[in-house]
Amino acid sequence: MISTGAGGLDELLNGGLLAENMHLVFGEAESGKTTLAIQCAVNCARIGYKTIYIDTEGTFSPKRLAQIASENVEEIASCIILARPSTFREQGAILDKLDEYVTEKVGLIVVDTVTALYSSELGGEKKKTFKLNRELSRQMAYLAQIIKGHKVPALITSQVRSVFIADEISVEPPARRVLDFWSDVVISLRFTSQSGVVRAVLEKHPRRLLPQSCFLRIGQEGIVDYKYVG
Ligand SMILES: Nc1ncnc2c1ncn2[C@@H]1O[C@H](COP(=O)(O)OP(=O)(O)OP(=O)(O)O)[C@@H](O)[C@H]1O
Ligand SMILES: [Mg+2]
Repeated sequence: MISTGAGGLDELLNGGLLAENMHLVFGEAESGKTTLAIQCAVNCARIGYKTIYIDTEGTFSPKRLAQIASENVEEIASCIILARPSTFREQGAILDKLDEYVTEKVGLIVVDTVTALYSSELGGEKKKTFKLNRELSRQMAYLAQIIKGHKVPALITSQVRSVFIADEISVEPPARRVLDFWSDVVISLRFTSQSGVVRAVLEKHPRRLLPQSCFLRIGQEGIVDYKYVG
């Protein structure tokens, strides 16, 4: 079990990131996905385990890691194995090799984000959707198999795009059905009227009644609980 570092969010998750479970976190740009992913990697390091961190947007930064870790930064940094695919195919190739890298020292696998390279490969070409969804599904199936075999949790993130649902504009991740199918736990991060404060909504969980949510504040030191007075 890996703590997210925010008590309210851990509570929502029945304790934190659970081994063998795929956790999907989605939200708009700047909603805190990367901050949360780095914070989970820091907490994983604090209990003595390594994180395999697949950074598809080049947004993992040592500076942000240092802010969130605040102490023992070098030791914590040495626990993070960074991979930076630049195409969707490369992302698949890295996932295919995971079995070689996931030793008993690894406690978490992060993919931030799982859909950025998918989306850039798709461009605007709808005809590619079927093929790309099949490849995304293959990658997710393989990751699911790895986390079950090695008994570690996975944290995957996705940005959202606007979609029309019953004449209303809503936001959801691309290939939502594929991601939902393979995710055991789904959390969306939504902006609130207060700057720097997001609401984390639990949208799927095997052992919790839904929907439930908590408020989080994103700052220099990472993500912390927030008591919302709306
Ligand atoms: N050093 C910092 N001090 C304070 N706030 C920061 C710092 N670094 C980032 N933030 C803020 O944290 C918020 C969340 O950023 P984060 O990168 O985690 O979002 P994200 O959901 O990953 O966005 P994206 O989809 O663009 O990757 C942003 O508002 C950002 O400005
Ligand atoms: Mg990000």
